[in-house]
Amino acid sequence: MTEPMTLGRALAGARKKLTEAGIGDAARDARLLVEAATGTGRLDAIARPDMPVDEAAAGRIEVCVARRAAGEPVHRILGGRSFHGLDLALNADTLEPRDDSEAMVGLALDLFRANPGGAATILDLGTGTGAIGLALLAEWPHARAHGVDIAKGAVEAAIANAANAGLAARFSASVSDWFAAVAGRYDLIVSNPPYIASGAIGALDREVREHDPRRALDGGGDGLDAYRIIAAGAAAHLAEGGVVAVETGFDQREAVTAIFTARGFDLRGSARDLGGRDRALAFRAANKPLGISGECV
Ligand SMILES: C[S@@+](CC[C@H](N)C(=O)[O-])C[C@H]1O[C@@H](n2cnc3c(N)ncnc32)[C@H](O)[C@@H]1O
Repeated sequence: MTEPMTLGRALAGARKKLTEAGIGDAARDARLLVEAATGTGRLDAIARPDMPVDEAAAGRIEVCVARRAAGEPVHRILGGRSFHGLDLALNADTLEPRDDSEAMVGLALDLFRANPGGAATILDLGTGTGAIGLALLAEWPHARAHGVDIAKGAVEAAIANAANAGLAARFSASVSDWFAAVAGRYDLIVSNPPYIASGAIGALDREVREHDPRRALDGGGDGLDAYRIIAAGAAAHLAEGGVVAVETGFDQREAVTAIFTARGFDLRGSARDLGGRDRALAFRAANKPLGISGECV
């Protein structure tokens, strides 16, 4: 006779299957999938390991664990992930937000720290799930943001994520090829554009290569195409003293700085990711005072 399924047994079984499949953080992923399938929380496995798991939930666990064992990222299976404390839904058109992007959010917050309550306007180019623009809105209660993306599904996800976060009144989004359909000027332009060289995409981890959308990754021959377009168009869309901040690959600081410098911008600030690698750069038009904030070096 088979033993009845319990939370503790479900977790142990999921962990074993994922470990055998060579999944890096098998324990964490097993926990996330079992919690989602059973509607339990982090403490339940400790406090209630004998809690019965019904057949329907056991079936969901089996399917989800099989998908993870086959290499699908855990947050794709869950349909969303948390970024800067916001729950963001994913779809096939959206990059899964990475914790690395906290460097960009932190840099933008530093640049405008002298005026945290200010009515800044933000343009998020290549908004994806809306991660960066929404994180900034969550910090700045009087700011407004507009996100654009070439992918219609990303625009839809960003709008839905804004509503879910209670930020819909201050966030809008539309389809645009970078600045092509953008009107007006903004205090802050932020972007985490695609920055992987086309030829390097084949060498990315399978989970990234096969599950993040290609157009969220592919930065052209040298990975820098989007920076050239953003640097060329930023001045026409920045308010007086505005700042443009971009996320970069860890080895792109010099090349991206040269692109913006050639377009009349000065490097205004930079930030590193949790691993200490260069990850975000902020520029303002040369010889212009910073618009709505104080100094940042
Ligand atoms: C690296 S992802 C960043 C997504 C999101 N901002 C984040 O940080 O999670 C780059 C985004 O740029 C978008 N993108 C690519 N080419 C674009 C273009 N020509 N115009 C506008 N957005 C574009 C992609 O669809 C994708 O959502």
